[in-house]
Amino acid sequence: MKKFKQARRVLKPTLKREIAALKSIANYKKPERVVVHLGNVGDISSSGFAAKTDSYSSRFPETKFIGIDSSFLSLKSKRNNWQQMKTTFNAGLRKLKDNSVDIISSELALGYYDSKTTETTNAGQGNFKRYTKTTINTAFKKLKPNGKLQLAVTGSVVLNVLEALKKAGFQEKKAVMYELSGSELNRTFWFKEHKKIPIYQIIVVK
Ligand SMILES: C[S@@+](CC[C@H](N)C(=O)[O-])C[C@H]1O[C@@H](n2cnc3c(N)ncnc32)[C@H](O)[C@@H]1O
Repeated sequence: MKKFKQARRVLKPTLKREIAALKSIANYKKPERVVVHLGNVGDISSSGFAAKTDSYSSRFPETKFIGIDSSFLSLKSKRNNWQQMKTTFNAGLRKLKDNSVDIISSELALGYYDSKTTETTNAGQGNFKRYTKTTINTAFKKLKPNGKLQLAVTGSVVLNVLEALKKAGFQEKKAVMYELSGSELNRTFWFKEHKKIPIYQIIVVK
């Protein structure tokens, strides 16, 4: 009986520690994976608008998708992991926490604006260029360390974009750029529309 009491005295604190450890494992929340699609509304397929965000948010239910587009989107089936912001790229990105996003992607959207969406009343090319730089700087702030920015752009804006990426501080050694070809050019409605001009895929890492 004495031995049993002794054993209990030794075991009790160990058990308490193990129970506490188990409780903390049970409360452990996986860090949230966040993907932002800039200009996602214009992505058209036979199933409607925002086709890419629609398909990805259904395939990856544990990832949070945020679409930012100045065009209105009526969400048919509003999934919990899909948030849509009807605003300009830079204004939408500014609302997110710094260092909180895993991937920001923009396909034929960053660099192709009208005057209403560049937070300026002057639609001159100089303002468009400045707006791209501002948006890329904001994207850099919002990405987690090692977060990725994936852009598809045409020749008319590629130099401006590359300069902005360099200035924002993306890792030059990890930067990838190539011209899309073959079936890659069928990726979206707008890719098909631009088939006759080169489209570049750029991937940079924070
Ligand atoms: C040409 S579509 C491209 C759509 C899609 N990514 C694709 O490849 O099919 C451009 C989209 O970007 C949006 N857009 C353009 N400039 C914007 C800006 N500054 N802020 C917010 N949305 C913008 C437009 O409303 C449109 O939905």
